[in-house]
Amino acid sequence: MELLELMKHRRAIRRFDERQIEEEALQQILEAGLYAPSAGGRQGVLFAVCQDRAVNERLGKIKRANSKPKMATATAYVSKQQPSIADDPNLKNAFYNAPTVITFFAPKNFLFAGEDCACAAENMMLMADSLGVGSCYIGQGWTAFADPYGQEILKKWEICTDYFAVMQLLLGYPKGGDDHPTSKPRRDGRILRF
Ligand SMILES: Cc1cc2nc3c(=O)[nH]c(=O)nc-3n(C[C@H](O)[C@H](O)[C@H](O)COP(=O)(O)O)c2cc1C
Repeated sequence: MELLELMKHRRAIRRFDERQIEEEALQQILEAGLYAPSAGGRQGVLFAVCQDRAVNERLGKIKRANSKPKMATATAYVSKQQPSIADDPNLKNAFYNAPTVITFFAPKNFLFAGEDCACAAENMMLMADSLGVGSCYIGQGWTAFADPYGQEILKKWEICTDYFAVMQLLLGYPKGGDDHPTSKPRRDGRILRF
């Protein structure tokens, strides 16, 4: 697929098949993240890949419990085709039962933590889409660890206390039978030329 076509095709996927993603696809997606730009070329982001469904489910539920999204209205919503936790109050897992959840950790005192993670995530989401793997960017990653179980997991994963969870990237095959989501129309007036 042409690069621009791929970018237009990638959409946030929140309904996943039970199947775990192929290891080869995961390796390519991770490599795409490793080659992302980083501030000062520091490559400071750590990618913690969790494929333990019980852990992912529990962290996703903690995150949902800690999230207070502005709930959707008839005219203002995130997605009707792939509802988010802001669209459907019945969704109790902020990771939407994705079989693979990657938490991006960055140093706490690092000014460009968010930017570095976002660059890596976009590389990875595009790579994923090109391989038929669905992905979803999840912001405010730290909220998944904001209780005793989350803290226990950080210790188990041996995450240095100088690092924090910036975000998560969900990966999994899109649920069979769902149409690939369509993008919202692009808002006008966002390009300013002088
Ligand atoms: C910084 C950021 C944070 C996001 N956080 C969440 C989130 O917590 N939960 C979620 O379901 N989607 C989240 N998303 C995905 C967006 O909702 C999604 O990208 C947006 O609705 C546009 O849809 P598209 O990705 O299909 O173009 C996030 C995206 C970005 C860039």
